[in-house]
Amino acid sequence: TTRIAIIGAMEEETREIEQFLTHVEKIEGKAGLAFMEGEYGGLSVIAVRCGIGKVNAALCTQIVLDLYDPELVINVGVAGGIAPGLRVGDVVISDKAQQHDVDTSAFGDPKGVIPRMETSVFQADPELIQLAQKVGHRLGLSVTVGKVISGDQFIADEGLKKALFQDFGASCTEMEGAAIAHVCAVNQAPFLLIRSISDAAGEQAVISYQDFVTTAAANAAALVRGMLDEK
Ligand code: ADE
Repeated sequence: TTRIAIIGAMEEETREIEQFLTHVEKIEGKAGLAFMEGEYGGLSVIAVRCGIGKVNAALCTQIVLDLYDPELVINVGVAGGIAPGLRVGDVVISDKAQQHDVDTSAFGDPKGVIPRMETSVFQADPELIQLAQKVGHRLGLSVTVGKVISGDQFIADEGLKKALFQDFGASCTEMEGAAIAHVCAVNQAPFLLIRSISDAAGEQAVISYQDFVTTAAANAAALVRGMLDEK
């Protein structure tokens, strides 16, 4: 059976995933992580809440890969919109992921480039991107394919947001996806990030986030579920 790992940072982001799994067994794993091993439509699914930020995301991803060797890794959750035109509830399907808070520009490197790595822009699996787009349209969700950037910062500043768009051409920003992508890439594991917009990363971001985290998380989870239906 196909084994799929689904990682979310927070309870708000993993709740709906756990709800549609059957035969769930909770396994207390390393580093305080709780793995929910379950089934969905004949698939074996491991759902895990990694906690907030890149380090939590990275260590969790490596542990999931080591323990379960999943065929693919999906990161589900919410994000702040960076590209103009994105609206709350829209879903961003990652084609690429990059860590926006990596900065060795003192040495002349562009922002977001990790020195001495072959690449710092991690490519999501093309077939998964296609599948996610198809399912998004079927579900009537507003989906876009674009770059997801991650950093250990909640962005709530119009100037910063504009700079991130200029520097990275990102669709949205969050705090885990690119770390998950990075770990998957160095382990040659296919990945996809599915992020729904909870706020526009400007001055109103906190209010908007509080109001819309639940509905945005539901859209992202619905898309993931729809993808599993076609697997
Ligand atoms: N997750 C949701 N909104 C975000 C934002 N504005 N910045 C970082 N992570 C987020």
